[in-house]
Amino acid sequence: MNNIDKSPNANYSNREELFKQKGTIIWFTGLSGAGKTTLSLALEKELLNQGAIVYVLDGDLIRNGLNSDLGFSEEDRQENIRRIGEVAKLFADAAFIVIVAFISPFREGRDRIRNTLEPGRFVEVFVDCPLEICEERDTKGLYKKARKGEIKDFTGISSPYNPPYKPEVHLHTERESVDESLQKILQHLHESGMFLS
Ligand code: ADX
Repeated sequence: MNNIDKSPNANYSNREELFKQKGTIIWFTGLSGAGKTTLSLALEKELLNQGAIVYVLDGDLIRNGLNSDLGFSEEDRQENIRRIGEVAKLFADAAFIVIVAFISPFREGRDRIRNTLEPGRFVEVFVDCPLEICEERDTKGLYKKARKGEIKDFTGISSPYNPPYKPEVHLHTERESVDESLQKILQHLHESGMFLS
């Protein structure tokens, strides 16, 4: 018992060896309705089937719990992403693969999290889809309300979205099937060396 190393993250590499994977944040970003939730859940399912230790943090769920005190002003969105980034880093420290699915509209906020991690441990997946298509899909009926002015500060309509400059994976969900997008992500993950043998 006296030999227990109490330094932070003492078991970090042991856990990675045990799980046979590197603790990594897979960060989905994109407009509402672009496909972040669908793809993140499909990726989670596939990685679990492959034996990975993985967990999804999804915008709508976290906003009902941990971040239920936050709205959609720029300040609140920054705080939303900051907190999610901290939670995601805890998962990555525990050698989990954590999939994060939030609009996360501000490039600076996303890059701030990326820059606190070792290279390769932050995989940005841009779920790109033209605004017109997201609006046409209007899965939650929110675009209609935003156009009528019933929801203010709505991303893409009355609040900005900054696309990533150099995402690790760039998806185009208006012309790719879920499976095609999924394969693009999986290919990147397998080539990146995050799975240890
Ligand atoms: S973020 O901008 O702070 O990253 P987040 O991903 O947590 O956003 O939440 C986005 C979800 O909240 C949307 O998918 C939508 O269901 C809902 N929502 C409610 N109001 C807004 C709004 N003003 N802008 C964007 N999404 C909104």
